[in-house]
Amino acid sequence: MAIIIDGKKISSDIKNELKARVENITAKGIKPKLALLLVGEDAASQMYVRSKERYCNDIGIESVVLRMPNTTTEEEVLDIIDKWNNDKTVNGILVQLPLPKHINESKVLLSISPSKDVDGFHPENVGRLVAGLPSYVPCTPLGIYELLKRYKINLKGKHCVVVGRSNIVGKPIANLLMQKEPNANAIVTVCHSAAPDISYYTKQADVLIAAVGSPELIKGEDVKEGVVVIDVGINRVEDLSTEKGYRVVGDVNFAEVSKKASAITPVPGGVGPMTISMLILNTLRSAEKEVYKD
Ligand code: GUN
Repeated sequence: MAIIIDGKKISSDIKNELKARVENITAKGIKPKLALLLVGEDAASQMYVRSKERYCNDIGIESVVLRMPNTTTEEEVLDIIDKWNNDKTVNGILVQLPLPKHINESKVLLSISPSKDVDGFHPENVGRLVAGLPSYVPCTPLGIYELLKRYKINLKGKHCVVVGRSNIVGKPIANLLMQKEPNANAIVTVCHSAAPDISYYTKQADVLIAAVGSPELIKGEDVKEGVVVIDVGINRVEDLSTEKGYRVVGDVNFAEVSKKASAITPVPGGVGPMTISMLILNTLRSAEKEVYKD
C-alpha cells in the first residue's frame, strides 16, 4: 500500500510554525506585509487571492489586495508595482497570473524588485536558484521540496523524472532537486511534449513529478514498482454524478498508479495546499531579510 502524502496536514503544520515566527518578528517591531495585485475577473484567480488574503489574516501578516478591472493598462500595472517596490512597509509583491492578454507578463514580472519577489519568478531569482545562491524559489516547487523533506524521502542519487517544463513548476523543481545539498542531490531528467513517448522516461523514475496539466495522463503501466509520485496537476473533468458536474483530478491516474507507488500525493490535498504556505514563508523570509540583506 502506498503512503499517501498528506499535503493538507503538512501545510497546516507549517501554518502553525509560521504563526509563531510572525509573533516573534512582530514582537521585534517588524510587521510583515504582502501586497497582491489581481487584474481581471478570472474566477480561479479570485479564489486563489481570497485564500492568500485569509491565510495572511489567520497568522497575523498584513495584506493589501488591489483588484483592478480587465481594462487596466500595462502602464497602470507597472505604476502600482513601482509604488510597492518603493514602499518600505511592503515585504512581498505578488501579481496573480494569468494577466489579461494585452499586458506583457514578462515585463511585469521583471519590474518587481527581486528582493520582494516572493513568487520567485524574476529572472534574477531564477538565475540565483540555478547558480545555487540564496533566492526566492517559486512556491509550488518549494512545496514539493518541503513535502519530500518532511516525509524523509531520500533523493541522493535517485532518478527524478519531471514531466513538464513550465517556468512555474517544471524548470524550478528540476533545478532544486539537482542541487548538491542533503535534501536534494538527485539525478534529474526533464521531459515534455516533444518526447515521442513520455512513458520511456516515466518508467525509469524513482521519483516522478507530473506537472503538465493533462488529466490522468500517467497510467499504472507508465511507472515502475515502488516509485514516489508527486502529482502537481489540478484538472477539472466532467462528472455528471457529482453535484457540481465535475471533479478534480491530477496528471496521474491515482487508482492505477497508487497500486504500484511506495508514496503518492493525492489530488486534491497533496501539492495544492502547500503552495500558499510557501508563499507566506517567502514573505516572512523577506521580512526577516534572509535572502536579500538590505
Ligand atoms: N497563477 C497560478 N499559479 C501561480 C503562482 O504560483 N503565482 C502567481 N502569481 N500566479 C499564479
